[in-house]
Amino acid sequence: MRKRTLGLLAMGVVLPLFASLSSARTPDSGTALDRKVRAFLDRRSGDWRELNVPAADGRLLHDLILRNGYRRVLEIGTSTGHSAIWMAWALSKTGGRLITVEIDPSRHGKALRNFREAGVSGYIDARLGDAHDLVPALPGPFDLVFSDADKSWYRNYFEALAPKLVPGGCYATHNVSDTRDTGFGLRDYVDYVKGRNDFDTTFHDRGAGVAVSCKKRPE
Ligand SMILES: C[S@@+](CC[C@H](N)C(=O)[O-])C[C@H]1O[C@@H](n2cnc3c(N)ncnc32)[C@H](O)[C@@H]1O
Repeated sequence: MRKRTLGLLAMGVVLPLFASLSSARTPDSGTALDRKVRAFLDRRSGDWRELNVPAADGRLLHDLILRNGYRRVLEIGTSTGHSAIWMAWALSKTGGRLITVEIDPSRHGKALRNFREAGVSGYIDARLGDAHDLVPALPGPFDLVFSDADKSWYRNYFEALAPKLVPGGCYATHNVSDTRDTGFGLRDYVDYVKGRNDFDTTFHDRGAGVAVSCKKRPE
């Protein structure tokens, strides 16, 4: 009887200890940088007002990079940097770097300040200019592209970048859904990516809608 009580007591002490150790190892609370980025994102949560992605979509991109060990990432449409910060956070763990392009000088400037405050400037090459000119000139290769600028140009960006994406790499496009109208008139784009037999496309609707088209590896 005493042995059983002692056993139960030990479980009561040891099991919560293991639980707290494993939760302490979550990526959000690991390094000093993790804590800095997390604190920045928490502080600014609900305060992104310049067409920025919702946090669910930032998290999706972050997890996509970590899960696949992606290192070479391109974003079209920085705005003030919400999605870029999520991606740079993941790249701080994979040893990678993000190139991000924005046409609006004021948003570009705010993004630079946000990157510094979040602690991720060292993982980001932020460029000011028109992506119509800058993107085709980028040599690549890329593991991941996140397309979130002018919707009317989505297909052109995809066609320019598909050859520069590595096999196994993914092309993520924002405000795109297969099952609902996101309000951007992107049905033609959905049909286009679904028709690309060299890509597998999945749709993620937890946030504002993200299509993730991954380049098939050669058989
Ligand atoms: C939806 S916002 C991007 C939001 C950003 N990904 C975030 O989560 O913070 C789209 C941005 O693309 C920029 N943009 C639109 N056309 C562009 C172009 N041709 N070249 C570069 N940036 C462009 C806009 O100025 C705008 O800031």
